[in-house]
Amino acid sequence: MTTLILIAAIGPRGELGYSGRLPWHYPEDLKHFKETTFGHPIIMGRKTYHSLGRILPNRPHLVLSRGAPDISKDNVYWFNSVEDILSWCRDTQCEKAFVIGGSEVFRLFESQCDYAYITHIHRAVVADIYFPMELLQKREIVEQTQMGPELTLIKYGHNQDVTAI
Ligand SMILES: NC(=O)c1ccc[n+]([C@@H]2O[C@H](COP(=O)([O-])OP(=O)(O)OC[C@H]3O[C@@H](n4cnc5c(N)ncnc54)[C@H](OP(=O)(O)O)[C@@H]3O)[C@@H](O)[C@H]2O)c1
Repeated sequence: MTTLILIAAIGPRGELGYSGRLPWHYPEDLKHFKETTFGHPIIMGRKTYHSLGRILPNRPHLVLSRGAPDISKDNVYWFNSVEDILSWCRDTQCEKAFVIGGSEVFRLFESQCDYAYITHIHRAVVADIYFPMELLQKREIVEQTQMGPELTLIKYGHNQDVTAI
């Protein structure tokens, strides 16, 4: 059974992105993202995939899109539905997979996620994409770590509604 984990960095009002990119640059959060996701599949929407600008090493990229797949890149897999991504996770028997965004994809997968690892950024920024904050309300905080003066990592635990994939 795959443990599905949502991972995101969000501002005080749920700010996620601006103009197709992250609205901040925090090396400590990028390090946390790399260390946490390394070796595991990362699930993302097509816009987040394009915002990465490169293929992240040692992580199968599972990209959700309604469009035709771009099969030119190694370790990138295209899917037209959430169920197809969940089936891929089941079939490959991966131990963990991370849902990395963006906004639409967080909404689609949240109810399936066992945990949510959220870096809360205590600085308001201009944004045009927001995290659906109401999704965190039914989760318990299981761990809290200060990552820097402006960053707190909060690990949210099980969503009572979650169903095993
Ligand atoms: N702060 C963070 O932690 C974080 C994390 C990730 C992303 N971001 C930021 O968020 C922004 C991108 O996020 P976004 O919300 O705009 O887009 P997104 O969720 O990454 O991608 C949206 C795309 O996913 C596909 N999609 C969505 N629902 C689908 C469905 N039901 N079936 C099939 N395909 C579906 C569609 O692709 P097609 O158009 O190809 O059909 C849609 O256009 C960027 O600014 C990025 O930097 C921030």
